Amino acid sequence: MNILLLGSGGRECALAWKLQQSPLCDSLYIAPGNAGTLAYGTNLPVSVTDFEAIKKICIDKQIDILLPGPEDPLVEGIYDFFKADAELQHIIVAGPSKEGAQLEGSKAFSKKFMQRHNIPTAGYQEFNKDTFDQGIAYLQQHNLPIVIKADGLAAGKGVVIAQTHNEAIIAFTQMIKEGQFGNAGDKVVVEQFLDGIEMSVFVLTDGTYYALLPEAKDYKRILEGDKGPNTGGMGAISPVPFADDVFMKKVTDRVILPTVKGLAAENITYRGFIFFGLIKVNNEPYVIEYNCRMGDPETEVVIPRLENDLVDLILKMSEGRLNEVIMQHSAQKACTVMLVSAGYPGSYEKGKVMTGFANTENSLLFHAGTANKGNEVVSNGGRVLAVTSLANTLEDALEISYKNIESISYDGKTYRKDIGYEFI
Ligand code: AMP
Ligand code: GLY
Repeated sequence: MNILLLGSGGRECALAWKLQQSPLCDSLYIAPGNAGTLAYGTNLPVSVTDFEAIKKICIDKQIDILLPGPEDPLVEGIYDFFKADAELQHIIVAGPSKEGAQLEGSKAFSKKFMQRHNIPTAGYQEFNKDTFDQGIAYLQQHNLPIVIKADGLAAGKGVVIAQTHNEAIIAFTQMIKEGQFGNAGDKVVVEQFLDGIEMSVFVLTDGTYYALLPEAKDYKRILEGDKGPNTGGMGAISPVPFADDVFMKKVTDRVILPTVKGLAAENITYRGFIFFGLIKVNNEPYVIEYNCRMGDPETEVVIPRLENDLVDLILKMSEGRLNEVIMQHSAQKACTVMLVSAGYPGSYEKGKVMTGFANTENSLLFHAGTANKGNEVVSNGGRVLAVTSLANTLEDALEISYKNIESISYDGKTYRKDIGYEFI
C-alpha cells in the first residue's frame, strides 16, 4: 500500500511512525510533514487543503490510502472530492464525508445530532444575526458561568467561558455582529457550563462497527496547575486513571454506540476516526465536542499504546469489517510532554536551532513545529516537539520524558512540568 498522510504536527509524526512499521506499508508520503516525519517517509511540500495538488500526488505516487491528519481538509470535503473523481475514487480515504465532518465543523450540527440521538451533552440554545436580541435576553437570565461557542472552525479559539453576564454579552456580540471568527461566528451556541474532569475517547469506525483506541487526557492550558490561556495541548497521558470499566461502559452505551448508530441511521457516510471530547460529571459522561480526526497531543500517547497494525485497521475499516478486529492496547502507561516556543500561545519566534536529540534515550521524539535548515533542525511553530515515554507506571514514564527534555536545547524552550501531576 502506498499511503499519503496529510498534516505537519506531532500527531502526524506519531501516525507516520506507526504507519511505516506496518508490513502492509510500501511507500509513505507526508504532505507537508516536518523535520521528524522525514525519518518515516517522504515529505512533499503541499498544503493539506490544496485538493488539486493532493490529487496530483495521488496519481503520480499511485496512492492507495489517504489519511488526513487535521480537520480542515475533512471539513472542506476532501472525502467527497475523492469519491467524485474517476481517477481518485478507488483510493481509501480514512476520514468522514463532508457531511460527517460537520460533527466537528459545526457546533450547531453536532448539538442537534446529540439531541436527536439522546447523547448526553450540556443544554444549549443556538442564535444568529436574526435572533441576536433574543440571544442577549437569554444570556441575561442564564446561570453563570456561561459557555459561548462560535459554530464553525476557529482553530480552538472559538469557545469563551464567561464568568459574568457582561463578559458573555461582549463575547456573543463579537462573534455574531463583529465577525471575530469570520463566518464561523454566524451562528453561536450558548450552553450550560459543566463542572467536571475532561478526557478524550477515540474510535475508528467503518460506518457500522467500530474499534476502540486507547483513551487519553490532554493538558490544554499553557501554565502549570491548568492556568492561563488554552493551547493546542501541552501534554497528554494514556490510559486515564479515572476512566474505569464502569465509566467506560457508560461511554460505550450512551455515547459511542448512539453516535455510530445515529450516523448510520441518518445515512451520513463516516469511515474514519471519531474523537469524543468528554467531561465526567458525578461519574456520568457528557460530550463536550466531537472531532472528526485524532487529537493532538493525544495521538502521541494513544498510537504508541496501540498494538494493532494501523494499516490493517484502515483496510478493515474500508471493507466494513472492523467487527473482525480484536483491539490490543499496551498495558504500559504513556505520557507525552510538549515543548513549545517562548510566547506561545501568543506570538513567538521561529527558526531557533534545536540540538541534543541524540542525547535522549528511551523516549519517542515526535516532531511538531520543526523544519530542516541545512543540516540543522529549527523550530517552526508554537508547539515544537512531543517527548513521549512508556513505562510500567505513569510516574516512571514521566521521569523518562522529563529527563530527556533536559538534553534538548533551543532558545526559549518552554514546557509544563506538571503533566499527569494529579495522578501521582
Ligand atoms: P470545545 O472547542 O467545544 O472542545 O471547547 C473547548 C474547551 O472549553 C473544552 O475543552 C472545555 O475545557 C471547555 N468547555 C467547552 N464546553 C464546555 C461546557 N459546556 N462546560 C464546561 N467547559 C466547557
Ligand atoms: N488536543 C485536543 C485536540 O486535538 O483538539
